[in-house]
Amino acid sequence: MKVGYYQFRPLFGKIRHNTNKVVNALQDVKADLIVLPELAFTGYYFQNKNELKSLAEDPAKSSTVEALVKLCRKNYFHLVTGFAEKSRDKIFNSALLIGPDGIEHTYRKLHLFNEEKKYFDAGDIPLQVNTVKEVKVGMLVCFDWVFPEAMRSLTLQGAEVIAHPSNLVLTFCQEAMITRCLENRVFAITTNRFGTDKRPHGELKFTGKSQIVAPGGVLVQRAVSQREALFITEIDPAESHQKNITPMNDLIEDRRPEYYQNLIN
Ligand code: ACM
Repeated sequence: MKVGYYQFRPLFGKIRHNTNKVVNALQDVKADLIVLPELAFTGYYFQNKNELKSLAEDPAKSSTVEALVKLCRKNYFHLVTGFAEKSRDKIFNSALLIGPDGIEHTYRKLHLFNEEKKYFDAGDIPLQVNTVKEVKVGMLVCFDWVFPEAMRSLTLQGAEVIAHPSNLVLTFCQEAMITRCLENRVFAITTNRFGTDKRPHGELKFTGKSQIVAPGGVLVQRAVSQREALFITEIDPAESHQKNITPMNDLIEDRRPEYYQNLIN
């Protein structure tokens, strides 16, 4: 399977510009699965709920999604992208799995980060694994990384690859994902954005360093912090099937859930 990421700098509020940027960058790319950043088309640092409301879209009526589906159809690949999703009176910080036939799954960020709590609704759909060209793909969004239960849940559902659109402002995630991949023995593609959202109420700088990690916590590749990066590589998803960390320790079989029942309360 050929997987990759596109790290770029979305311009705040410039949905059409950001859509064109992605479509142009991926126009001639050969791959099976490409991951884009969180909130890749709206930008991230909203002033308030009204501003978010004016930029969020129903994916079924979005010309951005339409353009991405067309691109998937042309290049016969799948995309996972962050998306500000309007659904009735709610707005979710979502990840869309898009293929040649349209949206295949929507994941709504379960763990909202900091001021996101002021304007987004928390996810309301259980974590789910989807099949992309016979490979099991799970989605997380950014701050979900700090809740190990989320990636473990996807692993227990058979995920081989975790697609992880992000807009990281702290410095911990990239290193932490190495541990997440070590303890679950899965691949993870963390796509971060770079640049700064300079807004009237303040500014946020994003840390770039998008990366792909292999089972066993092996860093396959990492982008630099403040530059555009398109990276595609071949992986063998079957590497994730082998869950041993020593000959006598299977990281899934050796769990003792009966002693940590309180985790599900
Ligand atoms: C984040 O969840 N965007 C840090």
